[in-house]
Amino acid sequence: MRLLQQKLIKYDAPQKTKEAGIYPYFRAISSEQDTEVIMSGRKVLMFGSNSYLGLTNHPKVKEAAIEATKKYGTGMAGSRFLNGTLDIHVELEHKLAKFVGKEEAIIFAAGMLVNVGVIPALTGKDDYILWDELNHASIVEGVRLSFSNKMKFRHNDMESLEKRLQSCNPDKIKLIIVDGVFSMEGDVTKLQEIVNLAHKYNANIYVDEAHSLGVFGKNGQGVCHHLGLTDEVDLIMGTFSKSFASIGGFIATDSITANWLRHNARSYIFSASPTPAAMGAVSAALDIMMSEPERFEHLWQLTHYALEGFRSRNFEIGHTSTPIIPLFIRDNEKTFMITRDLFEEGIFVNPVVSPAVAPKDTLIRFSLMATHTIPQIDFALDKITKIFKKYGVI
Ligand SMILES: Cc1ncc(COP(=O)(O)O)c(C=O)c1O
Repeated sequence: MRLLQQKLIKYDAPQKTKEAGIYPYFRAISSEQDTEVIMSGRKVLMFGSNSYLGLTNHPKVKEAAIEATKKYGTGMAGSRFLNGTLDIHVELEHKLAKFVGKEEAIIFAAGMLVNVGVIPALTGKDDYILWDELNHASIVEGVRLSFSNKMKFRHNDMESLEKRLQSCNPDKIKLIIVDGVFSMEGDVTKLQEIVNLAHKYNANIYVDEAHSLGVFGKNGQGVCHHLGLTDEVDLIMGTFSKSFASIGGFIATDSITANWLRHNARSYIFSASPTPAAMGAVSAALDIMMSEPERFEHLWQLTHYALEGFRSRNFEIGHTSTPIIPLFIRDNEKTFMITRDLFEEGIFVNPVVSPAVAPKDTLIRFSLMATHTIPQIDFALDKITKIFKKYGVI
């Protein structure tokens, strides 16, 4: 065996969970992606999707993807920089910029590529990046790629952030990066307080709105818009893989910053641009968001109902106030076993286990779509309560 394989063969954690019959990953869906799916040959209720508006299956969104493919073809075969820009990329960038309230938007082939490309392009080696410890992994990777001084602050802890800001050289750039809604625990960033600190210490702000676009604001414009703080935030990041029912991502910002990024963000320049089908789908999803505010109202009705349902049954759900509801278990093995039992009861949820989180922080991530119904939530509440009781978690 060669050296590489000698090292990798020692990694047997997946085999162990497979042997124990609790391996929860890579289950294939063989149906439409809706609130009910066929997964590994079994009909289950989907409470693990990030498609908060349930648009992946919307006829207008599908039709737009098909029409764009018919007109432009299936792939791009080049980066936006060179041969990979279509008129629909440019049109969608204008639409997105207007939607979130910034001068310009730049579309990337994935949300992950936005964070790993934009973050290291912005600040230099004498500057500072201050980031919340629960930020998404794509931000963590973007920060790792940066040559700047990196400062992690405690989750949503403004004292911790201020201490870091105090230790920075006042003459250097200080970029604060946070998730708008934190992806695993569903809590919202303390944006007003961050803005106050940014004013006090002359810092810039970058907000990842992956889980808040399509959720917050009358038409889903996100947390910055919802809190009336769009102008205070320098960069707004979004992804198309959640409420926008497709794949890709974007950064929205002022024209000066956009000009720099278009010519310096390496994951933008050195990666092929997103497909026509994705652009068609996102554009149609955006139109639906603008014209059907009742979708958001329904999503929030369901969210309040589910939050109250879990709280009244004594689940530990942390500080969430959004369609992402963490059900803390705080035990790795139990989290795997509960996920398996729920699947057998007809409920799909995502386990969040170590090493992604510390073993004492493991949880099941329950997430809602605007297309869910109250009876589906009632069914899930009953089953989840039964299984959590079985393992002595509640
Ligand atoms: C907060 C956050 N940012 C960025 C991303 C990356 O987005 P994408 O799936 O489009 O690569 C995700 C997706 O999981 C996310 O949750």
